[in-house]
Formats: sequence, C-alpha cells, structure tokens
Amino acid sequence: MTLDDSEEASWSRFWASGSLTAFYGQSDNYSPEFIAFWRAVLAEPVDRIIDLGCGNGALTWIVDDILNQPEPTTEICGIDLAVIDPFAALNKNRSDHPKVSFLGETSITAMPFEANSIDIAISQYGIEYSDVASVIPELGRVLKPKAKLAFIMHDEQSAILSSMALTARGIEFLFQPGGYYEGLFRLDKIQNKKKTVKKMQADPDYRQTVVKLQQIRRSVEGFPPPLRDFLLKHIAGTNSLFAKGLPLKSPNRRQLIKERRRLLEGSLTRYSELTHAALSRAQYQELVGQVESEGFTLVKSGNFMHPIDEKTSTNMGWILVAER
Ligand SMILES: C[S@@+](CC[C@H](N)C(=O)[O-])C[C@H]1O[C@@H](n2cnc3c(N)ncnc32)[C@H](O)[C@@H]1O
Repeated sequence: MTLDDSEEASWSRFWASGSLTAFYGQSDNYSPEFIAFWRAVLAEPVDRIIDLGCGNGALTWIVDDILNQPEPTTEICGIDLAVIDPFAALNKNRSDHPKVSFLGETSITAMPFEANSIDIAISQYGIEYSDVASVIPELGRVLKPKAKLAFIMHDEQSAILSSMALTARGIEFLFQPGGYYEGLFRLDKIQNKKKTVKKMQADPDYRQTVVKLQQIRRSVEGFPPPLRDFLLKHIAGTNSLFAKGLPLKSPNRRQLIKERRRLLEGSLTRYSELTHAALSRAQYQELVGQVESEGFTLVKSGNFMHPIDEKTSTNMGWILVAER
C-alpha cells in the first residue's frame, strides 16, 4: 500500500518524538535473535547497503554496529518517505557513525541512486508499507549484478499483529464516549471554574467525574500485560496534568490533554497501516515470485520464528533472503 498525507505526517511526528523502533514505548533496539539474523545476512564485507523504510534507523544502527566496528568500511543509507532526522531525534553524533546517512521524504519506489550501485538492500518491517510491486523492479535497477536482498516483513498471522490488535482495543476503550478522555476534559472545565480546592471537591459533578476516572483506571489494571503497563503509563502521564500543587485554573491544560490524546491517535493510525501492510501468505508468495523474476535465487524464506522461552517460539513475520 502507499501512504496518504495524514499517514506520512503521523510517521514524521512519531519519528521526531525520538522512538527508536515502531513499537511504541520500546526504548531498546531489536532482540539478539533479530541481530543474529542480520549478522548471518551480513557475513561478507560490502561497499554500500540501503535500508528500506528505515524510520529512525533501528536496523541501520544494527548494521553499522555489525560492519563498521572497529573500522568504518561500509556505507549504509536509510530511506524513508516520512520526514526523518534520526541523528537529531536520537541524539547521536554524526562523527561516531561516519558511514551512516539518511534520506527522508524519499520513496523507495524511485530512489536517487545510479543503476548497479548498491550491494545489499535490507528492510525490517519497512518495505511492505510501500507499493512492493513497484519497489522490486526499482531494486532490480539499483542493485549490482551480484547483489543480495534481505527483508523481515509483517505477516498478517504474526504475534505482532495480534498484540497490536489488543493495544488498539485498549486505546479505543480510553476514547469511548463517557470514557477516560471525556472525563479529563470535564475535569479540566470544572477546575478552571473553581476558585479553591475545597469548592471543587464539594462539586457533585467533580466527584462523579473523579469516581468515573478511578473506575476506568481499575478496568485498565485488569488488562493483560504489557497492554496494561503501556496504558497505565500513559494514564499516569496524562493524570500528572492535574497533579496536586498545580494551579486549579490552567489556560493550556486542555491543549496538553489533546496532545496526550494525539499520541494514542497516532498509535491507532499506525495500527491501521500495519493491518494494511501485513502480508498474507498469498501476497508473500507473490512477492517471492517478483524477486525471482528480477534474477534472484531464494536463500531463506518462510516465517521468522522467535523464541519466547526454551520450549516455545512465536511468529514475528515473514523473512526473505535472496541473491543473484
Ligand atoms: C514500521 S515503520 C519502519 C520501521 C523501521 N524499519 C524499524 O525497524 O524501526 C514503516 C516505515 O515505512 C515508511 N514508508 C512507507 N511507505 C514508504 C515508501 N514508499 N518509501 C519509503 N518509506 C516508506 C513509513 O514512513 C515508516 O517510517
């Protein structure tokens, strides 16, 4: 699929907020199993790699760590349609990553690279957000005659999709009429009208609203983790706009509540995109066919099974590694 303006703006805002990956609230980079997958792909030294749909460069930084330590040797360029500036967003020093660069506001369906100029194209939950049918011929053009591509992509049957579906339902719970956000706007209105805490606490409307908000919080406490922890953290952040000791009357509190709500709205937009982007088995097989028709031979395919503990593993998407 392709992004419309609001989706592009939503990604741009999301990356500017400083998240390293698209998994909201996750501060660390991908797990050792992901890194092991990329180590295997990048076993041979090469000159130029491109990271498709790179966001804040979660994968770009992994590759930089794998290939450019201790000596920087491989150029790595992350490309994304959104406005991105990962060095600024993540407070990284350009001089520590001399071979890393990023191209924002650039579609991977038409890249500003010469033909036969790139050794490896990689992507981690990026390429499937674009019109893949146009990306594969474009990769056929920019990749060298002897080249590699390697992708980890969303699968509509993966554990990520089911966990995001749950998160979306949790967010919708806070947005429902008479729910959390409506309660907060009401509280803001009441506080702005009252002169003293005593008068405010005596107001039946205030008391009712506070009770309702407490009920909502208790319901969230009953949600399964990690959704519970994610929503409780959000609620704590938003509730702090009403913390004791702050002035009752606040001209900008309403705006701040709206900004908190917009963070969650962004998650819903990204969830809806994720459901469009995730590939069915048939779409994945079609993609494999397109890659083969560009002269590539499949090296690895199927699901990316990620261990949860010693006995169980979970599907984290599709993998496709191919060479020509
Ligand atoms: C899930 S996010 C990227 C995740 C990132 N690779 C990571 O591991 O954190 C998907 C990205 O694809 C980008 N995207 C969507 N369509 C695109 C296109 N046609 N060209 C380049 N990037 C695109 C979006 O802007 C978004 O940043």
